[in-house]
Amino acid sequence: MDIDKDVEASVQRALIEKVRRHTGIAMNERKWTMLKGRLRRRVMALGLPDYRDYLQVLDASSEEVRDFIDLVTTNETSFFRTPRIWEYFAQSYLPQWHAAHAGTPLRIWSAAASSGEEAWTTAMLCEEFRASEPAFRYAVVGTDISDGILASARSGRYQGRNIEGLRASHPALLQKWFRSEGAQATVNDALRAHVSFRQHNLYALPRDLGQFDLVLLRNVLIYFDLDGQHAVLSNVRRAMKPDAVLIVGESESLSRVSTGFTFEQPLIYRNGRPREERDHEHA
Ligand SMILES: C[S@@+](CC[C@H](N)C(=O)[O-])C[C@H]1O[C@@H](n2cnc3c(N)ncnc32)[C@H](O)[C@@H]1O
Repeated sequence: MDIDKDVEASVQRALIEKVRRHTGIAMNERKWTMLKGRLRRRVMALGLPDYRDYLQVLDASSEEVRDFIDLVTTNETSFFRTPRIWEYFAQSYLPQWHAAHAGTPLRIWSAAASSGEEAWTTAMLCEEFRASEPAFRYAVVGTDISDGILASARSGRYQGRNIEGLRASHPALLQKWFRSEGAQATVNDALRAHVSFRQHNLYALPRDLGQFDLVLLRNVLIYFDLDGQHAVLSNVRRAMKPDAVLIVGESESLSRVSTGFTFEQPLIYRNGRPREERDHEHA
């Protein structure tokens, strides 16, 4: 059975539309080959004769929608991805924040956490900071739309390329914060105590996540169109304290989206208007 033969344009469009409806990810017809590649095995596993029948299964089953979301999202990530952001975080953000907010716990949101490397990287650097500032308190919340990838994040268990990358770049941190078992390494309980993960679609209002001082929204805006980026940024902003910092991914910028954020330096934005503007108003 060749389910890939002559998939009608209307079925292709309907599946692309399902991706948009359930995740906000904007695909066009040029992405069909990739999408088909991701869905093919699932369609075969369900014993369906073609993608049209799969559309019907998707309409009938919210469980299938969960699997669909797991399949169509791109979960590429790594520890210490974009090193200069982590330099900024450890060397500028943390000391400045702590000096200005002594006694208050720092709340950080890894808003498209994927398999968790970003959240654990944040926590390791917070722990390193805490070694010199024992009064410092923090919590990291990782969210993602994909339940499947969140299960990996929660397990804190890594192997292969990502853990090898950490071993090469930060061997002392790997040794300190992970338990190694052969080729695998698992985050230890001391780090786990500060990190939690939960499912959240960035297109939904962040009603019960609380307010954050720092949001990492990296390498996810690129999958949305301009309207989608606008909607997501406005939702994310609702969960940010006044003056909170937003960090985006390497190939992302807010320059084409009008938001309530102020540019601080490449990839780094602050919630609200520039400080000079506000000071001027209150002078
Ligand atoms: C490429 S990964 C980025 C991971 C990490 N932030 C980084 O920069 O390495 C993109 C993640 O965004 C998630 N995602 C896609 N659409 C989403 C949505 N509407 N709401 C929440 N997460 C979404 C995907 O499931 C995926 O895990």
